[in-house]
Amino acid sequence: MKIISAKDYQALSRAAANIISAQVILKPSCVLGLATGSSPVGTYQQLIEWYKKGDLDFSQVRTVNLDEYVGLDKDHDQSYAYFMRTNLFDHINVDPANTNIPDGMAPDEAEECARYDKVIRDLGGIDLQLLGLGVNGHIGFNEPADAFSTGTHQVTLTESTRDANKRFFASIDEVPTHARTMGTREILQARRVLMVASGANKAQAIKDAFFGPVTTQVPASILQYHPDFTLVADEAALSLL
Ligand code: GLP
Repeated sequence: MKIISAKDYQALSRAAANIISAQVILKPSCVLGLATGSSPVGTYQQLIEWYKKGDLDFSQVRTVNLDEYVGLDKDHDQSYAYFMRTNLFDHINVDPANTNIPDGMAPDEAEECARYDKVIRDLGGIDLQLLGLGVNGHIGFNEPADAFSTGTHQVTLTESTRDANKRFFASIDEVPTHARTMGTREILQARRVLMVASGANKAQAIKDAFFGPVTTQVPASILQYHPDFTLVADEAALSLL
């Protein structure tokens, strides 16, 4: 595990974007696992800026996103499909046909989860997985549970996660109760994992995940076992270490 300490959000976004850029330059047809939430927004903005300068080419890149809310259409402004288009895909030359996100509207839950696992398999796995961190230590939408999850699956969101995400919705009642997420196993199978974390509200989760025992109650803690895991965090997020 490698920890890069950045002085603030802008510096951490630059550091993370540098690591992703290196991946895209070294392997132009790489498979990027992508994340939503506020943490990676600055990273995406930096990648867009470098793309516009002509330093990056995403034309061969393939992407798989971690998760999607159940019941939100891809055009709903809080769906993760919409988030990815507005925060990244619409501003770079990635081929939309090469981007993948679980479908939160597909009626058959089991069929959709199996389809998504096949997408990941058919791509040959993930070269670099970008992650945020939930305040309760979740990754993707893999919430604290009795076991680490295997395969894409549907989860019931914890109240803490719905509460943390309610800032994007008119009220907590509008926050979906369920989501479909890549499994912890698939995240762990990515060849390289990069987490971005910012702000004092992530400090406890970072301490628990990376300086405490590996436990299903803190899903991110399993990343301690990953052979190529990098955490890029700002000073506030690292303040309890
Ligand atoms: C959501 C997403 C996660 C993300 C987390 C933290 O629950 N499913 O992938 O890491 O929020 O979000 P933020 O970066 O906004 O704190």
